[in-house]
Amino acid sequence: MYVNAKEMLCEALKEHYAVAQININNLEWTKAVLLTSEELKSPIILGVSEGAGKYMGGFKVVKEMVVSMIESLGIKVPVALHLDHGTYEGAKKCLEAGFSSIMFDGSHYSIDENIKLTKELVEESHKMNVSIEAEVGAIGGEEDGVKAKGEHANPEECKLIADLGIDFLAAGIGNIHGKYPDDWEGLSFDTLAKVKEKVGNMPLVLHGGTGIPEDMIKKAIDLGVSKINVNTECQLSFASATRKYFEEKKDLVGKGYDPRKILAPGYEAIKETVKEKLTLFGSINKA
Ligand code: 13P
Repeated sequence: MYVNAKEMLCEALKEHYAVAQININNLEWTKAVLLTSEELKSPIILGVSEGAGKYMGGFKVVKEMVVSMIESLGIKVPVALHLDHGTYEGAKKCLEAGFSSIMFDGSHYSIDENIKLTKELVEESHKMNVSIEAEVGAIGGEEDGVKAKGEHANPEECKLIADLGIDFLAAGIGNIHGKYPDDWEGLSFDTLAKVKEKVGNMPLVLHGGTGIPEDMIKKAIDLGVSKINVNTECQLSFASATRKYFEEKKDLVGKGYDPRKILAPGYEAIKETVKEKLTLFGSINKA
């Protein structure tokens, strides 16, 4: 069922679990995430960065692929298709292409500019029944060439952005994209609690889900995180399973060179990683 992400996240906040946003890169990725979510009866958000959208042939292609796959695979659980870290222009393109959810990341602008642009996009997306995520306090690390240091969001600024009518808020609490460095200081639960106090019943989003220790994930959910984004971890498991296929020279046996055979172990590895995440986030049987 193709839906926006508002209702599933309000439900998650109420019931104290988190919905996973798993970023997709191609058809195999999409199929692996959809089928795992359906098997486990979990709501799911498919994340698409602007780079991934371009890679797949454009946002319209992605939307058509996801909607057709939901239909042809008989996916009944709620599925939202969400732009990840969108620019203003990218957000508009996704609205046009029929995404059910968008993120506008104005965290690198001044707070006034972030407010102005977020407000415009809230109006446009809500007219189209599309949910919208905004960001305060840049998430660190590197994604699609965008580098940032793991900031701690200013709770007052979070309140200003939350009051614009957005549906969920990404607030930096020391989290970063990609692998965490050995000297990472961990999540700032103090910042998270202060943000929560300011924004009340607004579902909060935790980016950089790869590599955060389980106890920190659970505590973040307890403190009001309702959506957790995971990207790198699926890429790592896909890469490692694919490497093994070639190391074992399976491509040289029979028709092992068939792309459907080559991609199969990576596909299964993604399914396994998604299963682990849905279990940890507590969203199994919540659809
Ligand atoms: P990771 O790549 O660290 O899992 O982060 C994903 C993310 O936050 C996407 O927005």
